[in-house]
Amino acid sequence: MVELLDVLAARTDRMRTSEIRDLLKMISKDVISFAGGLPDPKTFPTSEDLKDIFEFINSVRDKAFQYGVTEGLPELKEELSKYLSRIAIKADPEEIIITSGSQQGVDMLGRIFINQRDIVVVEIPTYLAAIQAFNMYKPNYLGIPMDEDGMIIEQLEYELHHLLIKDKKPKFLYTIPTCQNPTGISMSLERRKRLLELASEYDFFIVEDDPYGHIVFDANELKRLKAMDKEGRVIYVSTFSKVFSPGLRIGFVVADMEVTKYLVLSKQALDLCSPNLTQFITYYALKNGLIDRNIPKIRKIYKSKRDAMLNAMEEYMPNGVKWTKPVGGMFIFTWLPEYINTKMLLYKVLNEYKVAYVPGRSFHVDGSGWNTMRLSYSYPPEDMIIEGIRRLSEAVTWAIKKFQKYNIKQID
Ligand SMILES: Cc1ncc(COP(=O)(O)O)c(C=O)c1O
Repeated sequence: MVELLDVLAARTDRMRTSEIRDLLKMISKDVISFAGGLPDPKTFPTSEDLKDIFEFINSVRDKAFQYGVTEGLPELKEELSKYLSRIAIKADPEEIIITSGSQQGVDMLGRIFINQRDIVVVEIPTYLAAIQAFNMYKPNYLGIPMDEDGMIIEQLEYELHHLLIKDKKPKFLYTIPTCQNPTGISMSLERRKRLLELASEYDFFIVEDDPYGHIVFDANELKRLKAMDKEGRVIYVSTFSKVFSPGLRIGFVVADMEVTKYLVLSKQALDLCSPNLTQFITYYALKNGLIDRNIPKIRKIYKSKRDAMLNAMEEYMPNGVKWTKPVGGMFIFTWLPEYINTKMLLYKVLNEYKVAYVPGRSFHVDGSGWNTMRLSYSYPPEDMIIEGIRRLSEAVTWAIKKFQKYNIKQID
């Protein structure tokens, strides 16, 4: 019998299971879950839409059920190019590659850019599944903390300068500048400009991951880095998961053709092509305005849920707890007093208070964040959001009292 550990590739040693996915499996029906960032099914295509979509699919049956080209369905890329121009991103169809969810795009970028020990800059905290994807290629992370205006650019500049002294520079910087996952924080315009200047000065690529750019409800739409990029330094990754349906698994990457060429090669090896069927559905939805009409509806739904969560936090959370106030997206990030370990607390909260959240530590590449949690308001109905926050606040109040009493500074 083969001893698995003897034969597994060395690169698997940094493969970690996602705390979020493990957690989702454990959640029973009576738990109010703020854990997964699942879109509200009300934002999915309606039965009426589906009738039209399937009529269309029937009309392109021979192509829709066939293999497609690796770059993506040409009709979809044409429509996408127009859709992007409405957010000031100029992209020829040849500069677009359709991916199986934007997650695949993130992974492919890791594949084509990262050698072992290359420096990759990320926000602290950042999107867990990006860390998981990049880990495969064993980079060294340079984590830059955030404040309410996003990544602290002065700190980035300081770090870049110190790298330069050692004759080093990052391979790329990965950022989610708008309504970030997990914090909900958006980078200010000033910082966006400065980031582009630094990328030019220190000569590195920026990977802009933008799943939430259309779900901004309290600010004018924030200018994409890609729309401000004059030097082809920004590689733009986005998705239809949050504005149409995650079940379709349609994402895309926009980059200069030189980069796209390598992305296509890596995708060929991964899955040959994304499903033609769901690309045709997305094409139809774009061409016929389904997505454009859906976006204001989605904003309204999530704004109301965000408000319900923020108001409930204000009402119920005890002193000593802080949280972000996002202008859009799906997440609120929360800091408990430093002596509370949210991973340990979770089991009690799940079993006794019947609420789920994601402990924040795994979003932090520097190993910090054990007192943090990510709360997603996208899925539960509003009354459940309010009840869930009430219960969670009770649990946090219990933990504060308990650990203060024992004067425990940090449990791990
Ligand atoms: C920041 C970020 N990037 C990428 C993704 C992946 O989305 P998908 O693969 O569904 O397009 C998500 C999903 O939650 C995300 O939050």
